[in-house]
Amino acid sequence: MTKRVRKAVLPVAGLGTRVLPGAKTTPKNMLNVFDRPILAYVVDEARAAGIEHIVFIVSRGQGAIEDYFDASPEIESALEAKGKADILAEVRADVGQPGQMSFIRQMAPLGLGHAVWCARDVIGDEPFAVMLPDMLMAARPPALAQAVDAYDTTGGNIIVVEPVPEGEAHKYGIVALDDRANEAKRGRLNKMTGMVEKPAPGTEPSNLFISGRYILQPDIFRILESQPRGAGGEIQLTDAMATLMKTQTFHALEYEGTTYDCGDKLGLLRANVAFALAHRDLGEAARAAIKALL
Ligand code: G1P
Repeated sequence: MTKRVRKAVLPVAGLGTRVLPGAKTTPKNMLNVFDRPILAYVVDEARAAGIEHIVFIVSRGQGAIEDYFDASPEIESALEAKGKADILAEVRADVGQPGQMSFIRQMAPLGLGHAVWCARDVIGDEPFAVMLPDMLMAARPPALAQAVDAYDTTGGNIIVVEPVPEGEAHKYGIVALDDRANEAKRGRLNKMTGMVEKPAPGTEPSNLFISGRYILQPDIFRILESQPRGAGGEIQLTDAMATLMKTQTFHALEYEGTTYDCGDKLGLLRANVAFALAHRDLGEAARAAIKALL
């Protein structure tokens, strides 16, 4: 019987260099995708996967994140007074539950592995999810729910992967799969044999990159504790996972859905267009507005 995944770590401390100057005064994951910040969608995804507690790893100047998920008495009473019940409901729907969101300062940008390690005390001794919020995933069921489903059958550790765009493997973590799972016959869930962070061009062990959703066992914290710096001089989560793989199983899950890299200007634009088109009330009007521009 595997322990249930109840907590998720969302590392949001990055500078957002690729989306400057927009991300200068707004944390990059608080930039809008149509009518809500990126993070609101990722929190929805976490909740849909049964996550009860979200641990944000933040840095200085990111108070807007905490404020967004808190109640906003002034805005709420103004909306109430004006009888704007629909907007009020939307605003309230994004407020977190008391005691179910934690905010931890990373202090120094030492890498993704270090960011995740900062959550160790709040996670404790249970499996947990990691969600990289830059990567906005549109999927049904949501991407993390697909990962939790996979975890319920395999246990161990799960990494969500997807085919890497031609020539871009050196920018990501790349996984190696069990030889028996050759490309032609393999399904979406495969046992892994290795992984490497930002491989030199031509040395990547497969065409599948780590795209931003993980389910990990808490033993990763013990490894991260003394994890030396890796690619880019940063403490890499991938390196610690490669060590954990010596004693535990890892499965790579090719999830079904579409990923938008919102840490990139054009990725953010694509996400905006896609989410506007899919909007419950405004989708049709958005389509007309976009068409008129083309
Ligand atoms: C991080 C991870 C990498 C993963 C990528 C996905 O890299 O270390 O394994 O493929 O996110 O976006 P970063 O984008 O922080 O360089």
